[in-house]
Amino acid sequence: MGPAGESSERVLLVTGGAGFIGTSFVLTTRAADFAKVVTLDKLTYAGNLANLAGVAHDAEHLFVEGDIADRALVAALLAEHKVTAVVNFAAESHVDRSIDAPGAFIQTNIVGTFELLEAARAYVAGLAASDADRARAFRFLHVSTDEVFGSLGDTGAFTEASPYAPNSPYAASKAAADHLVRAYHHTYGLATVTTNCSNNYGPFQFPEKLLPLMILNALEDKPLPIYGDGLNVRDWLFVEDHCEAIRMALTRGTPGETYAIGGRSERTNLELVGLICALLDELSPRHGGGSYRDLVHHVKDRPGHDRRYAIDPSRAERELGFRVTHSLEDGLRRTVAWYLANRPWCAAITSGNYRRERLGLSVDGPAAPATKKA
Ligand code: NAD
Ligand code: DAU
Repeated sequence: MGPAGESSERVLLVTGGAGFIGTSFVLTTRAADFAKVVTLDKLTYAGNLANLAGVAHDAEHLFVEGDIADRALVAALLAEHKVTAVVNFAAESHVDRSIDAPGAFIQTNIVGTFELLEAARAYVAGLAASDADRARAFRFLHVSTDEVFGSLGDTGAFTEASPYAPNSPYAASKAAADHLVRAYHHTYGLATVTTNCSNNYGPFQFPEKLLPLMILNALEDKPLPIYGDGLNVRDWLFVEDHCEAIRMALTRGTPGETYAIGGRSERTNLELVGLICALLDELSPRHGGGSYRDLVHHVKDRPGHDRRYAIDPSRAERELGFRVTHSLEDGLRRTVAWYLANRPWCAAITSGNYRRERLGLSVDGPAAPATKKA
């Protein structure tokens, strides 16, 4: 039996599958390779069951509302569905929110990952006694971020060997989770694989994040808030390319190893917003004329704002066969078109507590020091 079993009997437990990346993963995965997919999601502000309408009537997909920190629930799901692999997307994911209220990040990203690992460890130990092949084939794939490595200077890129130096409460909570995952492999032999990915973009992203926030604000002729000088650099990856990398890591990744995943598409925030504005100018011209670029507005910087992220994905390319298949131009075009075609989704998701207000400024005491460059 290969890693995580034969396709006819592979059963995935996907946590956080109603969020941005999880949705893309669930919608593009199960038909191809898996006998069953169980999605576990707490449906926080960022989770939206409507995202999964495409698999709602699929007999081989099951949605369960629940918390990864509920060990008994996770244990029951693993046993009942004879799960062969866990893919852990569930997290609090927004840096600005982690500045305002870090508690939820500690609870889900650290405690939640711990409980998930404990449930998986007990499940595999039980399997080992009854079905050694299935125990050997089990995989725990943990989805992490490049933010655990801190901030880069003007040159270089993060690799699997980069030292951990998280700068925000979000990044620190993800780093802690990564360390727990690593420890469960080294101490208990759990077959873990960790991926550290750069900034994703694409359909279904909650509009607190840069790209959808800019699209929706522009369409309402609202200012496009750029933090600080706008010269911070991110390495953009289309979400479907990330999901493909995760599937590759799941089947081809070596237990205990980590894989850095990125788009080889570095842009400053100002450059990226310029590209979005140009696409909107073409696809949905501004009423009254002029370019959406005129709405760009510099605002107070994010506290502790990391200057630059970039990933060298050579190892994932070499060992997993990972390739970026969507250029930034192609991916951005698809993304902007999706938001234009899905205005009701956007309206529904921002009709509750979140109204695209500025987040992440509620730091107590003196201004946070500027992030040290690596
Ligand atoms: P998201 O915020 O859009 O979705 C997170 C999902 O997790 C939501 O559906 C939410 O309801 C669910 N969730 C939150 N707490 C939970 C809990 N305790 N139990 C069960 N479900 C819970 O996040 P995303 O952008 O899709 O990110 C997914 C994962 O990928 C995260 O782990 C994130 O750290 C990582 N990541 C994201 C990016 C990015 O650019 N978005 C890049 C690299 C890594
Ligand atoms: O690098 C991977 C990370 O990318 C993931 O781990 C996180 O989950 C994901 O949210 C993302 O983090 P960022 O902080 O890079 O994403 P965000 O969309 O919040 O911001 C992107 C850049 O844009 C960042 O430099 C801050 C800036 N920004 C953001 C917002 C929301 C603005 O200038 N204005 C804004 O209004």
